[in-house]
Amino acid sequence: MKSKAPIRVAVTGAAGNIGYALLFRIASGQMFGPDQPVALNLIEIEPGMAALKGVAMELDDCAFPLLTEIVQTSDLAVGFKDVDWALLVGSVPRKQGMERADLLGINGKVFVGQGKAINDNAKPSVRVLVVGNPCNTNCLIAMKSAPDIPNNQFFAMTRLDENRAKTQLAQKASVSVKEVSELCVWGNHSPTMFPDFYNAKIGRLKATDVITDKAWLTDTFVPVVGQRGKAIIEARGASSAASAANAVVDTVRDLCTPTRGDFHSVCVISNGEYGTPAGLITSMPIKVDAIGKWRVVEGVNLTDYAKEKIAASNQELLDEREMAFGQLGLSI
Ligand code: LMR
Repeated sequence: MKSKAPIRVAVTGAAGNIGYALLFRIASGQMFGPDQPVALNLIEIEPGMAALKGVAMELDDCAFPLLTEIVQTSDLAVGFKDVDWALLVGSVPRKQGMERADLLGINGKVFVGQGKAINDNAKPSVRVLVVGNPCNTNCLIAMKSAPDIPNNQFFAMTRLDENRAKTQLAQKASVSVKEVSELCVWGNHSPTMFPDFYNAKIGRLKATDVITDKAWLTDTFVPVVGQRGKAIIEARGASSAASAANAVVDTVRDLCTPTRGDFHSVCVISNGEYGTPAGLITSMPIKVDAIGKWRVVEGVNLTDYAKEKIAASNQELLDEREMAFGQLGLSI
């Protein structure tokens, strides 16, 4: 049987902690499937190139049958050349005492350069997933800097938050995490995000009928999910890496696969769905149809509490946009 053409994937920050946890999973077939060859364009800044060489050597040493080529570069034009996916992982991670938004000034301009390079070099069908924080606003910056690439090909990551939220509910209810479904994380990947426990299910039941302690849901669950990244930094002394890489695999795989069951949380361009401000990259429930096109799930009933929380998170995104676009001289 003739083998498929490889999917070419660019990964920025490829020698960083998330990159190290991610590349081997892509190359082994966990992202695109066991019969889909992949080519990896590994992008690093100049000081990371020596470590990148070591990572590439290890990829070679895995003898992955699906890995057709490894490009190592610090040149964005080379790195994004003809790619099908651009995974923008590299950025300065936050340290203890910082919020993700504190990284705006540091990381924002990096995403202007990457957006431009994607615009000029990637396939027109390229899909871009931003992981580097603050990921929603960085994604918006990259999207604005790539005017020839359709806005609906840009994504930022809240799947890590969805996975975190599902585990918290499962542990509270003493059930397997696979019992938890329909849990959308809305808004910004920041402590203001809203994991919507009202619409979540545990087995066939509403999560709120299984976990009847309303105060736990509002006062423990919501802040624990929103602050989980910070708790990891405090515990590990470094920001999440393996779980972030796992969420990248989950996000891309599910964006490439027609949805059979549950929706998933992805930050996408808003067209005003559910009252979200149009033009922002904000997290909503996403399904993928039979021909691979994503759409925002319609008809989710939001409580007043949920609406208030989601509006506050989107207001934070509007504020981040104003700050970042002002600093970078971008227009809305
Ligand atoms: C996370 O949620 O773990 C990452 O976005 C890293 C961070 O700074 O919180």
